[in-house]
Amino acid sequence: MSKLLVCGGAGFIGSTFARQRVREHGDEVTVLDKLTYAGREENLRDLAEDPRLRFLRGAIEDREAVDAAIAAAAPEAIVNFAAETHVDRSIAEPDAFVTTHALGTYVLLEAAREHGLRYVQVSTDEVYGSIEQGTFTEESPLRPSSPYSATKCAADLLVQSYFHTYGLPAVIVRGSNNYGPYQYPEKLIPLMILNALHGDRLPVYGDGMQVRNWIHSTDFARAIGHVLQHGAAGEVYNAGGPDEEANIFVVRRIIELTGASQELIEHVADRPGHDRRYSLSSEKVRALGWSPQVRFEEGLEQTVAWYRDNGWWWQPIRSGDYRSYYERQYGRALG
Ligand code: NAD
Ligand code: TYD
Repeated sequence: MSKLLVCGGAGFIGSTFARQRVREHGDEVTVLDKLTYAGREENLRDLAEDPRLRFLRGAIEDREAVDAAIAAAAPEAIVNFAAETHVDRSIAEPDAFVTTHALGTYVLLEAAREHGLRYVQVSTDEVYGSIEQGTFTEESPLRPSSPYSATKCAADLLVQSYFHTYGLPAVIVRGSNNYGPYQYPEKLIPLMILNALHGDRLPVYGDGMQVRNWIHSTDFARAIGHVLQHGAAGEVYNAGGPDEEANIFVVRRIIELTGASQELIEHVADRPGHDRRYSLSSEKVRALGWSPQVRFEEGLEQTVAWYRDNGWWWQPIRSGDYRSYYERQYGRALG
C-alpha cells in the first residue's frame, strides 16, 4: 500500500487509475484536478465515501495548490495525468495546452525534486507522430504533428531532463488511443456511440482510413501502475493496445452495436495535419510483466453497453457546453 498524488485524477484515465489503486491495491490516493470541461467529480462518484480517496481542486501550474496537495497527501509518488487532451481543441485554441503541459509539468517536477518523490508522467504515442508501416519503439524519434502532441513532447523532455540533471526518479509511460467508460464524448468512440444512440450524424474525418491502436483504459491504467511499481528511473515505457483498426470500421461496428442506421455516416472535412496511423510496440513494459487483457471487439461492446446504461453520466455533458463546442467544431447542432 502506498500514498499517491494523482494529478488529473478526475479525468477519464486518471479516475480509472485512482479507482484501481484504491480498490485493488489499497492505496491512499489524493487527486489534484483543475476540473476543466473534461474533469468531473462524477468520474469518482463511486469512491466519494471512501476514506482512501481525497479530492482537491487545483491546477498543476499553481505551485501553492501543488504544495498544499503534497502537504495533505504526504505522497511517495506523483502520477501526472493532468492535460488538455483533444487534438481538435489544440488546433483551435492551443494556449491551455502550453500552460498545462509545459508550465504545469515543470511545476510538478520542481515539487517532486524538492520533496524527493518518485514521478510518473503519463504520455502518448502521438509524440512519435504518424507511422505508415511498422511500430514505434521507445527509441523512435519524437516527431509530433499537433499542438497537443508537441506540448506533450515538451513535458516528456522536461521530465527526462530532471532525471539526467537532478537524478529525479522519474519514468514516462506512453499509451496508445484509450477507450472505455467515462471518456468525454469529444473523442471518436464516445462521440460516435452517443450520436448513434441519438440518431445524430456520425462525422468521419476524410476517408476514415486513419488507423489507431486501441487500448482499454483499464489496461492502460494497469500499465501505469505497473511502471510506477517496477519501472526503472529515467526510462520510457510504451503501452499499446492489442488491436489496430481504421476509424471507418470502428464507426460501422458502433452502428451495428447500437442498432443505428449506416445512413448516419457523413464524411466531413479532414482534420488539418491529421496523423494517418499510430502503432506502438510494448515489448519493454511486457518484459516487466504487464500485458493488455481486453481485446478491442469485446471492449467496444462493453463500452457501448456502458454508455447506453449510464445516461446519468453523459446527459449533463450533452445538454451543456459540449453542445456549443460541437456546433463550433462540426458546424451543425446536436439533435
Ligand atoms: P481527460 O481530458 O479525460 O482528463 C484530463 C484531466 O486533467 C481532467 O480531469 C482535467 O480537469 C485535468 N486537468 C487539465 N488541466 C489541468 C491542470 N492544469 N491542472 C490540473 N488538472 C488539469 O484526459 P484522459 O484521456 O484521461 O488523459 C489523461 C492523460 O493520458 C493525459 O496526459 C493524456 O495525454 C494521456 N493519454 C491519453 C490517451 C487517450 O486516448 N485518452 C492516450 C494516451 C495518453
Ligand atoms: P480522437 O478520438 O480525437 O483521438 P486522436 O486524435 O488522439 O487519435 O480521434 C481518433 C480518430 O478518429 C482520429 O483519426 C480522428 C478521427 N475522428 C473522426 O473521424 N471524427 C471525429 O468526430 C473525431 C472526434 C475523430
